[in-house]
Amino acid sequence: DLAESPAIKRRLVTECDLSYPALSHPSSNPPAFQRPSQLITFSYTPSRTLEFTDSALRYFVGPPRGADLGYAYDRWIRRPEERGRIDGLLTAWSKVQKDMKGSHEGVGKVPDVGVVSWRGVMTKILTAPYEERDGWEMNVMALDGTLYFEEHLSEARLKEKNDMEPRHRLQSYYGYAFESYCTSSSCHDSPADVPGWSGDVDTNVQWCSVVKTKLGDTRMIIGGEVDCVRGKYTGGTDNFVELKTSMAIRNPHDESKFEKKLLKFYFQSFLLGVPEIFVGFRKPTGHLTTTQSFQTIQIPRMVRGKPGAWDPLVCLDWGQQFLSFIKATVKGGSRRDVWRVRFVPKVGVTAALLDGAGVQDVEADEDRVGFLPRWYWAENTA
Ligand code: A3P
Ligand code: MG
Ligand code: MG
Repeated sequence: DLAESPAIKRRLVTECDLSYPALSHPSSNPPAFQRPSQLITFSYTPSRTLEFTDSALRYFVGPPRGADLGYAYDRWIRRPEERGRIDGLLTAWSKVQKDMKGSHEGVGKVPDVGVVSWRGVMTKILTAPYEERDGWEMNVMALDGTLYFEEHLSEARLKEKNDMEPRHRLQSYYGYAFESYCTSSSCHDSPADVPGWSGDVDTNVQWCSVVKTKLGDTRMIIGGEVDCVRGKYTGGTDNFVELKTSMAIRNPHDESKFEKKLLKFYFQSFLLGVPEIFVGFRKPTGHLTTTQSFQTIQIPRMVRGKPGAWDPLVCLDWGQQFLSFIKATVKGGSRRDVWRVRFVPKVGVTAALLDGAGVQDVEADEDRVGFLPRWYWAENTA
């Protein structure tokens, strides 16, 4: 139990610091969410090197009928699960800041940024009001008014993810195989061994977009993987496509389950400004049945009044409360402070300041200050 962990020096209060929102009472004044605008893109190569190119960008082509998502499972080059480090995003954000400062419009001004986070972490925060099963933990640092979020996976949880049950591992592969069937890396893909297959899955390779946006008054820098673009890449997010697989819907129960899942699909895409979600429905055997394209911004209207209904405004409102709570919590501390924020479904959120041993654990014998890489720390504390 986190509360009893020796790594935690101080708990703020004994009760939950920020309790679970009442889902039936969305705030009358939910915060606005600014349309994300892209700052930069980058690619991870097969050797997991980050480069400022679009080498990993893929184009949407659509999958063949009945495609077998278990194809080439034995050839999957699987990136090991690791701590969800923020380094890649900071590398990109650092470059954006330098480009801004060096820009010709005189004193290139870098805006006051309230939050820097991977999209996955922000999705977990915003969808927490409806999360009934999976809790999470994250690490938070604050440097000159900017909050940095990093997912915290315990050693046990990491091991669990790496030693995934064979059945779950195969199911997870289906999602990646769907990406291969749905995309092409250029007009010159090598001849496919099965129709539509654009190449074996290598989960090291990712194309990422970094956007700036705003939740209420908080400016945010968010980075995330983009599965593909429809048509030509325009340099913006307007033809990005998120690919998803899901079990075929056979009855009302399946349907309401899918509608619940749409909440996560929705925020994952919404946060990066991805306008389209292309879903492949599959049989338990991993064969595609049908596909359906969703317009991200239409999704809330589709689920309204349904059995699995959710309201995105509840999530945005919660997100704003969450940010206020974190800001108030870290206030007045040292820049080296690392906070462990823990979410428990149906209960709420607590924050605790890590002690020396806790911080050491986060640094993991790497060249870091807290969880921030030392080079980034040096650039931003000069
Ligand atoms: P599906 O979403 O089609 O299941 P993303 O959809 O975010 O682009 O992720 C691509 C695929 O990675 C997912 O495809 C899924 O197979 C796998 N994946 C993502 N998050 C996962 C998780 N937490 N556990 C297992 N697999 C995951
Ligand atoms: Mg993806
Ligand atoms: Mg996807």
